[in-house]
Amino acid sequence: MSWSRSPSSAFDAMTTTLSDAVAADGFSFVEAATMQALLDAAGLRDWQGFAASWGDLGLDSYMADGGRYRRRRHAAFALSAAGIRRKPHQPHYQSRDYNPLNGGLERWFEPITEAIAAHPALEAVLKTCFALFDPLTPDGTRPEVWHTEVHQFRVEARAGETGRPTPEGMHRDGVDWVLVMLVRRENVSSGTTSIHDLAGRPLGSFTLRHPLESAVVDDARVFHGVTPVEPVDPAQPAFRDVLVVTMRRA
Ligand SMILES: [Fe+2]
Repeated sequence: MSWSRSPSSAFDAMTTTLSDAVAADGFSFVEAATMQALLDAAGLRDWQGFAASWGDLGLDSYMADGGRYRRRRHAAFALSAAGIRRKPHQPHYQSRDYNPLNGGLERWFEPITEAIAAHPALEAVLKTCFALFDPLTPDGTRPEVWHTEVHQFRVEARAGETGRPTPEGMHRDGVDWVLVMLVRRENVSSGTTSIHDLAGRPLGSFTLRHPLESAVVDDARVFHGVTPVEPVDPAQPAFRDVLVVTMRRA
């Protein structure tokens, strides 16, 4: 689909402010109100319906640690100034350089449903990612079309089995740009995001607590990792839902 609305000057100003922060630091924590304003300007509708779709994800059966605590769906898109095009369903691949635990093979995950792939909330997120990341990319290296992957993740925490959002530890995704957006936290503690530079020095840490709070990451410059989540009340369901968008040169 082509972008449904042309960006406003307010949207341009907000993305420029955030882009400047990422350019300076290699990452940025984005508060919920800021992300809400960005997504609203990009045409966000029906966040509740979008978030509810995290209740219907497939089990990630590739977990080399034997864990059964992660659920997900996945889709690939072509993203350009002209708009969004979903690509045929394809495996997710990370080399072992980037993911020593689960990398090195093509991992097939359940596809994101057609309804969610075309949802105005996802369109708004992708539009915002393009507006942020395309200008951050140096002239001469900016692709005509971005290979973009979208992941819906649910990490569950149970008594006796902590949920590890990033079982591979501190890592890079092996792409150019990453957005991690909190969709929902239910009955979990911890899940703290840390950012390190390429020498392993900590640059910052924060916990995504409220829906829409996000981490924006320059994957070439920094590592990211998230501590395990624990149930607050072990007798009740406990989970952390996030949306991850990555962009790389095709
Ligand atoms: Fe990651």
